[in-house]
Amino acid sequence: MMKFFVLILLATLSAFESLEGKRTLGDQPLSKIAVHKATFALHDLAHVKASPTILGLRGQNTEWATVRYSYPNPSNDDWIGVFSPANFSASTCEQENTRVHPPLLCSAPIKYQFANYTNPAYEATGKGSLRLQLINQRADFSFALFSGGLSNPKLIAVSNTVVFANPKAPVYPRLAQGKMWNEMSITWTSGYGIPEAEPFVEWGPQGGDQMRSPAGTLTFNRNSMCGA
Ligand SMILES: *[C@@H]1O[C@H](CO)[C@@H](O)[C@H](O)[C@H]1NC(C)=O
Ligand SMILES: *[C@@H]1O[C@H](CO)[C@@H](O)[C@H](O)[C@H]1NC(C)=O
Repeated sequence: MMKFFVLILLATLSAFESLEGKRTLGDQPLSKIAVHKATFALHDLAHVKASPTILGLRGQNTEWATVRYSYPNPSNDDWIGVFSPANFSASTCEQENTRVHPPLLCSAPIKYQFANYTNPAYEATGKGSLRLQLINQRADFSFALFSGGLSNPKLIAVSNTVVFANPKAPVYPRLAQGKMWNEMSITWTSGYGIPEAEPFVEWGPQGGDQMRSPAGTLTFNRNSMCGA
């Protein structure tokens, strides 16, 4: 199950974060994928391989992965989906919507690209590769080859997993003015749960004495996300 934690600095600093600006309406590219119709059609001779297997070895939170794939029955409808957490193929989901019939893929891709993208010969050769940018989002990744286009996805092959060297690292610090003139709040996102680590912020003038303020943790999991 995907989990992440948002840590909020309390103490003299009040924590209040407004949601980012409203999303624009219109089609979200991922909404074109009919994940609820996905079926399994794993093919022994199809391969998807992702590298490097460890990302962010120099502390980066973003890195490019290269995905190489081959499939004996290629078509221009084939696409590569990125999944995180990586372990999705073995798991099916409980039915949330009774109109949808199993098998139900238990997670949806976080991004996708057509297999022929930058590989115009894919339809003829069945071989291709893609470079995809990944950000550290606290879980490992896998890449899956689908046929049947976005509207009728059939899972053909799943790659090895790749993972950031430190997937739980605190990332994306966000500073905001507190409720009072002398308050600042800082929030960040990390993979550490409440029993695993004690969050705090060290602050003070550069080169001067540093203060430590304890922080609180808010946990969000899959159930927090409206049936995601
Ligand atoms: C790649 O596939 C897409 C989707 O099927 C198609 O629209 C596009 O024309 C294809 N590109 C090439 C170079 O064949
Ligand atoms: C993948 O998920 C399934 C179902 O949640 C679980 O039974 C299985 O042990 C997991 N496999 C790995 C390699 O984590």
